[in-house]
Amino acid sequence: MTALAIIGGTGLGSIHELKLQRREVLRTPYGDPSGPILHGTLGGKSVAFLARHGYGHTIPPHKVNYRANLWALKQIGAQRVLAVAAVGGIRADMTPGTLAVPDQLIDYTWGRAHTYFEDDLKHVVHIDFSAPYDETLRQALLAAGERVGVELVSGATYGATQGPRLETAGEINRMERDGCDLVGMTGMPEAGLARELELAYATCAVVANEAAGRGPATLTMEDIRRHLDTGMERVRTVLNA
Ligand code: HPA
Repeated sequence: MTALAIIGGTGLGSIHELKLQRREVLRTPYGDPSGPILHGTLGGKSVAFLARHGYGHTIPPHKVNYRANLWALKQIGAQRVLAVAAVGGIRADMTPGTLAVPDQLIDYTWGRAHTYFEDDLKHVVHIDFSAPYDETLRQALLAAGERVGVELVSGATYGATQGPRLETAGEINRMERDGCDLVGMTGMPEAGLARELELAYATCAVVANEAAGRGPATLTMEDIRRHLDTGMERVRTVLNA
């Protein structure tokens, strides 16, 4: 049984350091996950890995089958899910290259299949989501960073937007007024579905760019990728810890 699963986002489609043991193709009642689950060891520990956007990075954020992904991870026996996600920085200290471990989120997504509790219900279910991230897993991630000397900023509010377009400067201003420190496109419904399945879930956010209106007048994928590569290298070090 693999207790820890890692969901890799943009810039982390694979982990070279993962000593691959086998690949597992799973079907779920919700359709197919983004790809096969890779089982292996990382830093001597057993982990499973799933590339959120598919191994060729072909699935955009609003098309990811989040329900199938989380269901598949539950099916293999994962108990903890560490999500790695590229984000834009809103708060002034969230400069490109920063790694952050959010403790709150605000959901601005729409039209995504976001719950397992909708059909054939014996009764209506409302999960508690006051603290959307698992504190024990957050602390474990922060401790891993400390062990290998990689700074992780603890505590931030992640705003999940629909994408795939980037935000307007006005939207980012509104998000800042709402209290968002980071903006990304995949944090929801992923975190909510993990909670519904009683999986301990935390995010390692990698700031790829200053959010719209905070840096260069226009944002390109190239700007985003440049900082992601260095940020993800540091994430790999933490994962290997
Ligand atoms: N906005 C939303 N998602 C993102 C961004 C951004 O600026 N950068 C990386 N993912």
